[in-house]
Amino acid sequence: MNSLLISRPALKTVIDQVAEVTGYLWQKGWAERNGGNITVNITEFADAEMAALPAIAPVQQIGKVLPYLKGTYFYVKGTGKRMRDLARYPMQNGSIIRICPDLASYEIIADEPVMPTSELPSHLSLQNYLLETGSTYKATLHTHPIELVAMSHNRRFLKGDELTQVLWSMIPETLAFAPLGIGIVPYKIPGSIELADATLEQIKTHDVVLWEKHGTVAVGTDIMDAFDQTDVLCKAAQIYLSARSLGSEPEGMTAEAMHEIQEVFNLPKKRPC
Ligand code: 13P
Ligand code: ZN
Repeated sequence: MNSLLISRPALKTVIDQVAEVTGYLWQKGWAERNGGNITVNITEFADAEMAALPAIAPVQQIGKVLPYLKGTYFYVKGTGKRMRDLARYPMQNGSIIRICPDLASYEIIADEPVMPTSELPSHLSLQNYLLETGSTYKATLHTHPIELVAMSHNRRFLKGDELTQVLWSMIPETLAFAPLGIGIVPYKIPGSIELADATLEQIKTHDVVLWEKHGTVAVGTDIMDAFDQTDVLCKAAQIYLSARSLGSEPEGMTAEAMHEIQEVFNLPKKRPC
């Protein structure tokens, strides 16, 4: 086991949870090959010893300046690495990075020089936003949930909040646990700054973001929470497609029933910090 984790049981608990969740991603069928990626802000575990660790690979550019990432550290899935491998060996399929003082680059400090995910611009843009808004959220998750990606192949669900309304209407819990719904990002090249910027805009007003014909991005207090947010919406998509396979458009809960849920549960209409 890595020396950083041996002396930091609380950090090990966070990494163990990442490993647990990546196992679920594989079991769900959301993580073919190297599909999906994760970052977790672990700055709370940083101390003088961690600050003194030398870089073990050349400094890399993020592609953006992210001012709120000053002095931060992240656990990041490695590019090309499999979630099912990460579930067993998190420190060999991911690495710990430190943001450099220029706030536009990073260096790997542990355990091995595993290059971070190609979607790092999206993850770090969201992490920067979470810190900017004083959020307690620490984790970001990109994955490839089958039913949500399938629905993003239908133009109807890419317009306005049509997908959110349909998903909310499938089962009361969707509205209760994803009260901000799902934001849509039109197709963009994976790993691009354009994708990162568009994702950032959508997460400001939604629980989860859907990348057209690609996957989802969620934020959470921890990685389990980000997984749950995705799972709640994907379950609604599964119900929609199952009901649709009966041969007609599912009825969905009425607007009155959904309004009642919003009132009774006093659901937030915007993202709480
Ligand atoms: P990485 O292996 O670089 O994390 O890429 C996986 C992916 O899902 C890209 O969108
Ligand atoms: Zn992807």
